[in-house]
Amino acid sequence: MRQSDLPLLEALHRYKGQAPSSYHVPGHKSGVFLSKLEGTSDSVVYDKALIFKTLLNIDITEITGLDDLHEPSGVIAEAQALAADCFGADHTFFLVNGSTVGNLSLILTVCEPGDLIILSRNVHKSVIHGLMLAGAKAVFLPANVDASTGFSYEVYSQHLKEALEQYPQAKAVFLTNPNYYGLTIDLESIAQLVHEYNIPLLVDEAHGAHFGIHPKLPKSALACGADGVVQSTHKMLTAMTMGSMLHIQGARLDVTLVKQRLSMLQSSSPSYPIMASLDLARWLIIHYGYAWAEDVINEIEAFKIWVKDETHFGIWDNDDPFKIMMFDRTGSLSGYELQQALEARGCYIEMADPENTLILLSLASTKQDIEKLVENLKEIQLVFRLKEQEIEAHFTNKVSRLEYIKQLKLSKPVHFHLSQWKGHKNPDQTTLVLLENAIGECSAEMIIPYPPGIPVLLSGETITKEIVVYLKKCADMGARFQDAYDSSMQSVLIYKSN
Ligand SMILES: Cc1ncc(COP(=O)(O)O)c(C=O)c1O
Repeated sequence: MRQSDLPLLEALHRYKGQAPSSYHVPGHKSGVFLSKLEGTSDSVVYDKALIFKTLLNIDITEITGLDDLHEPSGVIAEAQALAADCFGADHTFFLVNGSTVGNLSLILTVCEPGDLIILSRNVHKSVIHGLMLAGAKAVFLPANVDASTGFSYEVYSQHLKEALEQYPQAKAVFLTNPNYYGLTIDLESIAQLVHEYNIPLLVDEAHGAHFGIHPKLPKSALACGADGVVQSTHKMLTAMTMGSMLHIQGARLDVTLVKQRLSMLQSSSPSYPIMASLDLARWLIIHYGYAWAEDVINEIEAFKIWVKDETHFGIWDNDDPFKIMMFDRTGSLSGYELQQALEARGCYIEMADPENTLILLSLASTKQDIEKLVENLKEIQLVFRLKEQEIEAHFTNKVSRLEYIKQLKLSKPVHFHLSQWKGHKNPDQTTLVLLENAIGECSAEMIIPYPPGIPVLLSGETITKEIVVYLKKCADMGARFQDAYDSSMQSVLIYKSN
């Protein structure tokens, strides 16, 4: 096995080099249909569709020599073994449906119906969906959000220990690390603790596929001792969108079962461009990861100093230098307004919340990207005439908004099942009421304001006055409520009392 190899990408090129005629799927025949459009009266569509040409040329399927993702023994097996070696796993599975499918498969590996698992509150919705598919029970750890920023999400060992003691039947612990904002938890000591109970630690490292490739980046979850790790290689490394990896180490997870779950959940026609882009992403880390990270991190460090010394903007401290959480210290521009101002100048950012804009750079970012940001921030500062004297005046609001989250305790076990999603179709048991009338009622849905993306209400939990106040504040400040029955948060689904 040589890390200089690119088995999957090379196999695609070898195949194309034979100028093969296709008598198999996909029906686009390596994009040949495009040439049938050429010269027709639809030249405008043809010109636009041409963008697919290069991509469709390598969009092949499992024909001879190209292996089978679900039973790999050739180039896919080699590419996965190289990835395992690169990331420090015993087994690596390529994912063609994002970290979403990795999270689903991990939950379905460790949980049978009725089994219990311990989770952090800030898990991605794919984890919740996995619990629904599995019919599993979950206990959510207390949420520890830093009230001054609203970003940090700590999992304290002491809380985890309490949960592990109280629920010895737990099949696994599932945590998110890092969070969206590039903040991390002390995964190494958490892994040690979880292993004392001889259960696996599963980590959703969707936002940390680049961890460990440079000393200025946090250690990867695998290096910290996690047993199952899901990474969105497409988010912070260079794979195509949806290209992700699931890594397994040690013997606490049943690898055969993981494989079986993945073959249930992943397409039987996986995308070769996505898989080959995973192969290439691994190769790039080996050959250029450190050097490119070094260059971009140096640029980012200089940028942060400039922002701090010469602008009215601020940047929160975090653990991942590639995630820049910027805010207007004068309070003149909300996070959304700063986003709009940047986008009006051609700088599209990752996301915004009421206070902050999240700027995401990666190994592929360039000096010019940073220069463009500098130029535009200078201009925005002038155009909006940000007033220095107002600096830091607006943060009091935020602290009170987050006060509620800090009070969330270890939850009771919540039993997930697929029919929960159909609560509104079950008028015998549930009903929709105005939020202010829901105090004292039992929630029939999970309510997750984004930001900060932490479930405030779980199905079965009592809706308190504090929760109603908090949810109203979140809604007023522009938070989104994905998957809530009423995404405007005027009303909430509750269980009818008998
Ligand atoms: C923490 C976390 N986990 C998992 C996912 C799903 O990742 P993917 O988009 O690769 O399916 C996301 C998506 O943003 C996420 O934020």
